[in-house]
Amino acid sequence: MKTIDELLQEGIEGKRVFIRADLNVPLQGDTITDDGRIRAVAPTIARLAEAGAKVIVASHLGRPKGAPDPQFSLAPVARRLGEILGKNVSFATDTVGDSAKATVAALGDGEVTLLENLRFNAGETSKDDAERGAFADALASLADVYVGDGFGAVHRKHASVFDLPARLPHAAGQLIAAEVTVLKKLTEDVKRPYVVVLGGAKVSDKLGVIDNLLEKADRILIGGGMSYTFLKAKGHEVGISLLQEDQIPVCLEYLARAEKRGVEFVLPVDVLVSADFPDLKTKAPANPQTVSSDAIPADQEGLDIGPKTRELYAAKLADAGTVFWNGPMGVFEHPDYAGGTQAVAQGLVDSPAFTVVGGGDSAAAVRLLGFDENAFGHISTGGGASLEYLEGKTLPGLAALED
Ligand code: 3PG
Repeated sequence: MKTIDELLQEGIEGKRVFIRADLNVPLQGDTITDDGRIRAVAPTIARLAEAGAKVIVASHLGRPKGAPDPQFSLAPVARRLGEILGKNVSFATDTVGDSAKATVAALGDGEVTLLENLRFNAGETSKDDAERGAFADALASLADVYVGDGFGAVHRKHASVFDLPARLPHAAGQLIAAEVTVLKKLTEDVKRPYVVVLGGAKVSDKLGVIDNLLEKADRILIGGGMSYTFLKAKGHEVGISLLQEDQIPVCLEYLARAEKRGVEFVLPVDVLVSADFPDLKTKAPANPQTVSSDAIPADQEGLDIGPKTRELYAAKLADAGTVFWNGPMGVFEHPDYAGGTQAVAQGLVDSPAFTVVGGGDSAAAVRLLGFDENAFGHISTGGGASLEYLEGKTLPGLAALED
């Protein structure tokens, strides 16, 4: 993979450089609630701009349906990017139309512009190669060089991620290079015990990674919504907790495989339950009860791991050599159910291990709960992307940067 160091050596001054970033940040109205992804790609943008490139930044935001949709506009991100870079970032109100062409044409050396949401064009996410190719052609006409730095989107076979680099000289940005170095370490050169903590709502999202990690990890700790399908598979009643009944057979198979391979597969021993899902807007007190994980009442749902489980998981992290964590342990957005996620994050901080927080909600949770980002070995910007990397899948956006 060519790096931007090589691009800079070749000379980038005056060239139009297209940086595919992942600026898919959480928004409440116009307010960005976690700017981690913007800060993570800023060094690549700054470095290329300082070297005199005309920098065109592009990203998706949310999942609009292939047409402009104001709630998914990147305009607030352009403002925040400008603040972080400490320079003006112009904004094109389309992707390959008149505004993009005029904005790019007006760029001086060292200046930066952000295009509107790439997913406002149906060609970006199309399954049809020709439709994606046509959009990639139009994007390619805006630039001379392509830099892939949207790690969070490299698992998507999308026009700007996969097709565009084939049309321009290309290199990997600093963020992608850093992410790949860390994830490679987890797959090739892991210090043991290797402990993996998995949470989040759906067990189906994590099956691929569990399948792979059963061959690699020493311990797998499970929390969050996905734990209830495992608890049910072990014969416990889970009340009205999140449940993917159709996944029970595969959960049983994984539990059996873990036992056979000597992988410690740890499930919650107690949980916080309530009859009602908490109000995340008002954050009104939810008054949950703590129950043993084999005694969840029929009319209650589990919403966080309980105090005994927090202690147990902290102990399982204390002697780790390496930790990978993806997915919150409960509904951390509500203070009454943030304790489990908080305890796991603290367990990572306290552990002597090399710790990796695998993107998405867990990365947002770490920042929302006030942890110092530097207390972790690495906080990935890619949730789905880091999981697919650990699954051993070929990621289109990385493959496209290889040759
Ligand atoms: C993410 O948030 O995981 C990335 O930005 C990818 O977004 P997507 O799942 O909508 O493709």
